[in-house]
Amino acid sequence: MKVLVVGSGGREHAMAWKLAQSNRIQQVFVAPGNGGTARDSHLINVPISDGIQLRQWALDNKIDLTLVGPEAPLAAGMVDDFRLHGLRIFGPTQAAAQLESSKAFSKSFMQRHGIPTAEFQTFTQAEQAHAYVDAKGAPIVVKADGLAAGKGVVVAMTLAEAHEAIDFMLLDNALGVAHNEGGARVVIEEFLQGEEASFMVLCDGKHVLALATSQDHKRLLDGDEGPNTGGMGAYSPAPVVTAEVHARAMREVILPTIKGMEKDGIPYTGFLYAGLMIDTQGRIKTLEFNCRMGDPETQPILMRMKSDFLELLLAATSEGLDQFELVWDRRVALGVVMAAAGYPMNPRKGDAIAGLPSDQDEVMVFHAGTAQHDGKIVTSGGRVLCVTAMAESVRLAQQKAYSAVEPIAFDGMQWRKDIGYRALAQ
Ligand code: AMP
Ligand code: GLY
Repeated sequence: MKVLVVGSGGREHAMAWKLAQSNRIQQVFVAPGNGGTARDSHLINVPISDGIQLRQWALDNKIDLTLVGPEAPLAAGMVDDFRLHGLRIFGPTQAAAQLESSKAFSKSFMQRHGIPTAEFQTFTQAEQAHAYVDAKGAPIVVKADGLAAGKGVVVAMTLAEAHEAIDFMLLDNALGVAHNEGGARVVIEEFLQGEEASFMVLCDGKHVLALATSQDHKRLLDGDEGPNTGGMGAYSPAPVVTAEVHARAMREVILPTIKGMEKDGIPYTGFLYAGLMIDTQGRIKTLEFNCRMGDPETQPILMRMKSDFLELLLAATSEGLDQFELVWDRRVALGVVMAAAGYPMNPRKGDAIAGLPSDQDEVMVFHAGTAQHDGKIVTSGGRVLCVTAMAESVRLAQQKAYSAVEPIAFDGMQWRKDIGYRALAQ
């Protein structure tokens, strides 16, 4: 089979790497891919980013299955368009992807279907938003309505920060959010405390199958300090997701979401990622939905997947997930993200990367913001690499990942030294 992976991040490198291991694979293409997928002899990069051109390319090249990694093409309707042209593709339709692409949509959806989430209100007028924040007090959370690559959320510890965030999002758009129809909107919500986990499932429109659990580190700096990012590291499994929390997440969040979407006439196919906040009593609230797998969570999750990823996706695109049993490696996988100078606000491109180790069974360097120029790998985006290792315990996986990080060098590189610390404390 010929398979196309859409995207250029670490998640897509991991997806393509895993697909290439399947027996039934003839060729894996990645569009547009990155430096890591370019230098992997099992993968071929296709330099097309435009959705319509890519669909035409997929038709011309008789692609059997397309897997979309990131949210932007899903929110733009790539699944609808490919299906319209008779192509097999895994992901949510544009309407279903609103669970991620519009905070206002997902919050009102959760409210309507009784899915636990933080108390909130939605605003288009800065004045009213300012008044609401003054009335509620800090800490409080301000979220832009549109897609913002993980940067559209400000957890304001003071009123001044909350007011600034409102102006940023509603007046200046300084965070570069892609506003939804009807213009700029913010959701302002109650500040929740607890521990976060990334809860991911696949859905074929009828059946749901949970992936292995995982946690990521969203803040830039050690000890979960500094600005929010797309994710600075991740590991699987997540000890905070006990069997009880798992059952609760399925019962209270995932199943009502899938049923709710069906009831609203928007059946859900694709990966669904619920960002959960778990309190000390094991109660959960939904922080957000993503309509895709997480990045960097995908890297450790796929490293632990023993099942054939292609067979899984074929089942997921033929309403066959009830017949599929996922098998996981019992070991722990942990990934450390190495980010560019200036990330997350203003990442620098073009720095040469030295000391990349060769791939091994238990240590993989998944590329994200890299490009290959004249046989050399250089930085080309905010999150550059995700160095992922698998071992018997969190401590050993951590040691193995950090020793693989050691020889890698590029100007201005940033990485956290404490990935996995919450799992070590459990
Ligand atoms: P989101 O994109 O909605 O998941 O927000 C990004 C990050 O902001 C989350 O992973 C949390 O760390 C934090 N966050 C979002 N909403 C809240 C909330 N209501 N209370 C506390 N932290 C939050
Ligand atoms: N790591 C969080 C995300 O992919 O949204």
